[in-house]
Amino acid sequence: MLQVLARSLGLSTVLASVARSAVLVDFQVAQPPPLPADAEQCTVLILEHTFGNSYYQPAIVPYTPPTDCGDVGSWAGISLNFTVTSNGTQYDRLGVFNLNDAEIWRTSTPEPTPDGIIWTYLKDVTRYIPLFSEPGNFTLELNNLLETGLNGEYASTLYATFYASSAANPAPTSANTIIPLTLSPSTTSGGEAAVPPIFSLNVTVPQNAVQIYAELYASGNGDEEFWYFNTANEYLSDLPNGTTYGNGPFREVRLLVDGQVAGVAFPYAVIFTGGIIPSAWQPITSYGALDLPTYFVDLTPFVPILTDGQSHNISIDVVSAETDHAINSDWYVSGSLQVVTDSSSERTTGSITVYDVQPYATTTTTGSVAADGSSVNVTVTAHRSVHIESTIRSGSGATTYVVWDQNLEYSNTQYYLDDFNVQNVAQTATGSFLSTHNGAVALVDNFSYPLYINFTVLSENSESATITAVFDHSYDRASLPSPFILGSTINERQLASGYFVETTAGNYGNGTSNNTLNYVDYKGNTYYRTVDAALDNITYNVIGGTLAGEGSFQLPTYSPVSQLVMAMPRLPGGRRIAL
Ligand SMILES: *[C@@H]1O[C@H](CO)[C@@H](O)[C@H](O)[C@H]1NC(C)=O
Ligand SMILES: *[C@@H]1O[C@H](CO)[C@@H](O)[C@H](O)[C@H]1NC(C)=O
Ligand SMILES: *[C@@H]1O[C@H](CO)[C@@H](O)[C@H](O)[C@H]1NC(C)=O
Ligand SMILES: *[C@@H]1O[C@H](CO)[C@@H](O)[C@H](O)[C@H]1NC(C)=O
Ligand SMILES: *[C@@H]1O[C@H](CO)[C@@H](O)[C@H](O)[C@H]1NC(C)=O
Ligand SMILES: *[C@@H]1O[C@H](CO)[C@@H](O)[C@H](O)[C@H]1NC(C)=O
Ligand SMILES: *[C@@H]1O[C@H](CO)[C@@H](O)[C@H](O)[C@H]1NC(C)=O
Ligand SMILES: *[C@@H]1O[C@H](CO)[C@@H](O)[C@H](O)[C@H]1NC(C)=O
Ligand SMILES: *[C@@H]1O[C@H](CO)[C@@H](O)[C@H](O)[C@H]1NC(C)=O
Ligand SMILES: *[C@@H]1O[C@H](CO)[C@@H](O)[C@H](O)[C@H]1NC(C)=O
Ligand SMILES: *[C@@H]1O[C@H](CO)[C@@H](O)[C@H](O)[C@H]1NC(C)=O
Ligand SMILES: *[C@@H]1O[C@H](CO)[C@@H](O)[C@H](O)[C@H]1NC(C)=O
Repeated sequence: MLQVLARSLGLSTVLASVARSAVLVDFQVAQPPPLPADAEQCTVLILEHTFGNSYYQPAIVPYTPPTDCGDVGSWAGISLNFTVTSNGTQYDRLGVFNLNDAEIWRTSTPEPTPDGIIWTYLKDVTRYIPLFSEPGNFTLELNNLLETGLNGEYASTLYATFYASSAANPAPTSANTIIPLTLSPSTTSGGEAAVPPIFSLNVTVPQNAVQIYAELYASGNGDEEFWYFNTANEYLSDLPNGTTYGNGPFREVRLLVDGQVAGVAFPYAVIFTGGIIPSAWQPITSYGALDLPTYFVDLTPFVPILTDGQSHNISIDVVSAETDHAINSDWYVSGSLQVVTDSSSERTTGSITVYDVQPYATTTTTGSVAADGSSVNVTVTAHRSVHIESTIRSGSGATTYVVWDQNLEYSNTQYYLDDFNVQNVAQTATGSFLSTHNGAVALVDNFSYPLYINFTVLSENSESATITAVFDHSYDRASLPSPFILGSTINERQLASGYFVETTAGNYGNGTSNNTLNYVDYKGNTYYRTVDAALDNITYNVIGGTLAGEGSFQLPTYSPVSQLVMAMPRLPGGRRIAL
């Protein structure tokens, strides 16, 4: 199905016929959940909550699995619908969804306008069927703050839709159990851990586990929000104080078992909607802002170690290319282990036969400083490989030979030019992960996350400042998280730009955003979309593919460009401009 609002149709005529709404419809470009439209569906209200002054006060609601869409756990899939409105001025905020102690979705909020915004994000959570099959608690942490100049509340509604399985829509194979790697959520926390320091948990794995796949959540926040703009310590003193933070731009997320690295990820740089040019991210948010990517490690090679009936020390940390590997505060991390158990209750045995993994990536840092001190360029590179082989004997007698390989490359060059009024970054992170079990592919992750940002301070005095930036950011990823989680290939590119003006009377800005997304998955579902926005208007929108349902067409919306009301932009290094 192809729906087109093409320039050739005569854009102004088409737009003029559309009823205008003052409420801006924000969205992230993404494929709809790849779930069977023809299946019987049961939709359940999970929670309704307005996050006002909500720091350390997550919404916690009891959860009971529905029984009216087939037997509990027999579902073909599950999706979530998170719909939020907000009016006023507010920062973007991080949202952490937790079900039965495991994080199932990390999101963040678009920034509101005085006339109000609304957004809906539909999230496929089929991989968490084992968690949805048990009664317990659903927690949503969304730490918001109301104070002078910040009055936007986030009125949130979360529905879950369960898809009944049938001969036509069979239930997917699921893990037998999911082990959370979180601090248990509490009345004050959603369960994510702040790194540094390293986050470690004692974990006991079923003795008959035969496969384990880890999923990691990790986002740079606080002083690590613009981690890709942090400068190597060696060159920090060549920049004016306050230009950016130290500890360099390289970040590696590591998963360790009893102190041994089991797998790593080079994270995708999620730009939150208050990042650098807030007006560039409305109505189309930066890619990933509403659905932060997660990372996958095949932990099966460690099965022989983990199935001894004892608890083991599983850790997640985030390290840099500095000699002490230090980072700033904070990365929020969590994870879960998808565990497949054997039909026999006998203990799984075996051994790691090859372990070729260094504790840290191999990195280089080089730079140059202009003779007059007015420009500085710094490049940090990293290379990392992981190679582990194991032989695993299940209680029922099967022998599996497991090979887990990761190869990753990273490069980041920062250009500080024009007396530090220009701050540009060119970063690439690429990698290819492959695990095989008796030669059959179990986990694949081929990714490339190029990021280019040119940021310029155009003018700056005690009354006002004007900044501008252009962003060229891609998410290219062919991944199969495990043999039983749907694999997909996503090619996404976002070109965004804008200006932002800060004055003593308030802030305003403008922006443009051009986006292309191509999605195809292992079931043959497809989705593609090209959508452009300029000055809060959708100027071009083409949607197609098997997942492009009738309801997925976004009507053009119009809202006045916000005047003097946006929250302050957040800049790399907590940089303050003028005021
Ligand atoms: C998502 O939920 C909102 C209400 O919270 C509803 O208006 C909207 O139609 C739902 N979207 C889908 C695709 O179900
Ligand atoms: C935003 O304003 C609209 C219209 O006045 C209102 O219906 C909605 O509840 C408000 N939402 C929030 C979060 O304040
Ligand atoms: C659910 O949360 C409440 C606090 O709101 C807590 O008392 C209860 O123990 C939790 N239940 C589970 C199963 O974690
Ligand atoms: C984990 O186990 C070790 C000993 O095996 C113990 O010293 C430590 O306190 C435990 N940590 C937690 C968080 O329970
Ligand atoms: C840099 O600026 C910060 C904040 O203004 C200040 O605390 C710090 O002492 C300064 N450092 C140097 C080396 O001047
Ligand atoms: C767990 O392992 C991490 C990483 O080696 C280490 O920092 C931590 O001290 C260990 N914790 C325990 C309780 O042994
Ligand atoms: C940094 O790179 C820019 C762009 O290539 C160049 O114009 C400038 O001279 C370089 N500065 C230094 C100190 O190397
Ligand atoms: C991943 O990359 C490898 C090596 O570059 C290639 O052989 C393989 O076909 C790729 N797999 C997928 C699913 O893209
Ligand atoms: C950033 O500036 C460089 C020149 O300094 C240019 O080559 C590059 O295309 C620009 N990037 C973007 C995203 O505009
Ligand atoms: C965006 O704002 C800047 C600064 O106010 C202005 O120069 C530019 O023309 C505006 N862009 C558009 C497309 O209106
Ligand atoms: C964005 O797309 C519009 C057409 O919709 C085009 O005029 C503009 O040049 C594009 N901008 C960029 C930065 O690609
Ligand atoms: C956005 O589109 C509306 C409707 O066509 C138009 O009136 C308005 O001028 C556009 N906004 C800008 C800033 O171009």
